[in-house]
Amino acid sequence: MIRWGIAGTGGFASSVAATLEWMSEAELVAIASSHHDELRILGDLHGVPSARRYSSYEALAADDEVDLIYVATPASHHFEHTVLFLTAGRGVVCETPFGLNEAQAAAMVAAARAEGRFLMETSARNLPVYVRLREVMASDAIGEVVAFSSDYGYAVRDRDDPWLDPARGGGALLRQGVYPLSLASMLLGTPERVTALGAIGDTGIDEHVAVLTSHSGGATAAVTASLRTHLTRTARISGTRGSITVPGLITAPTTLVVQGGDRYGRLDLPFDREGGRSVPGAGFHHQVRHVHRRLRDGHLDSDIMPLDESQSIMRTLDTVRAQIGARPT
Ligand SMILES: NC(=O)c1ccc[n+]([C@@H]2O[C@H](COP(=O)([O-])OP(=O)(O)OC[C@H]3O[C@@H](n4cnc5c(N)ncnc54)[C@H](OP(=O)(O)O)[C@@H]3O)[C@@H](O)[C@H]2O)c1
Repeated sequence: MIRWGIAGTGGFASSVAATLEWMSEAELVAIASSHHDELRILGDLHGVPSARRYSSYEALAADDEVDLIYVATPASHHFEHTVLFLTAGRGVVCETPFGLNEAQAAAMVAAARAEGRFLMETSARNLPVYVRLREVMASDAIGEVVAFSSDYGYAVRDRDDPWLDPARGGGALLRQGVYPLSLASMLLGTPERVTALGAIGDTGIDEHVAVLTSHSGGATAAVTASLRTHLTRTARISGTRGSITVPGLITAPTTLVVQGGDRYGRLDLPFDREGGRSVPGAGFHHQVRHVHRRLRDGHLDSDIMPLDESQSIMRTLDTVRAQIGARPT
């Protein structure tokens, strides 16, 4: 049985708590937040003992009966909390983005390696759509990938929204672009070249960004991210013999469309059903099982969301921000 703790009590923390409560091989034993009411509500809902509803993140870090902590605090705190937990001897699954910049990502990786603790950036790559996508790619059904395109955007209307606040990890790249850029990285590897155009808001952050990357073999990726408009949040992969479309939300996909030659296939692959029954928690159980499997096999990282790759994705974000003149994070 692996004992989990959760840092934060927001929407993602609630989903993770529901998943952990449902799973027989995991146990949610502790949570932390500075808001007493939020702690009480989440703790009552998922049976976390009162004594282990911590009002400080340091107290959660010090709990020796927690094996792994899911960091679901704002992006501005991913680095601080991840390093706090790792150096206290806990393993960590950190929400995306993996820190605010490459330096923070590198420091998190270094802390995990120095402490000999598990670390992974949370990822949709464990969901059935992406498992099948990798199988389709490996089968050579669409040939060699030539072009990838994806966008991710949500129009933020309230100028006080944290997504526009540099102090709270705001910016189109950290909030939106990181997801399609991660998908491009999964499919094409680390970019050889990165070129970007963008619009900067009055707080100095990137509010609208278009990124072009080139990869070994000549493949290209085109990614748009925005806090000024709603974008489709879908993805298209074009190969020498066919194409694949992820027609729904790329962070929570349920369908894959594969076209090769004269064949057309639409695969429905829900992430929240198992044995004909619905599973709570937005598909997070796939990731928990992956983490448990890696630990059981003696690994301290993920092979489908490797730490070096999480770091290289943050490097791409830094490069884009520098090119478009956004304030460094
Ligand atoms: N993977 C995805 O698709 C995806 C999508 C959206 C967001 N995310 C990530 O998920 C994370 C959590 O998002 P969410 O919407 O569940 O959480 P949220 O509503 O932003 O809640 C954040 C939690 O962090 C805690 N926190 C600690 N320090 C804080 C501070 N200085 N300011 C505000 N809150 C602070 C809050 O509790 P206390 O203040 O009480 O301590 C709260 O419980 C974010 O980091 C975001 O990057 C991922």
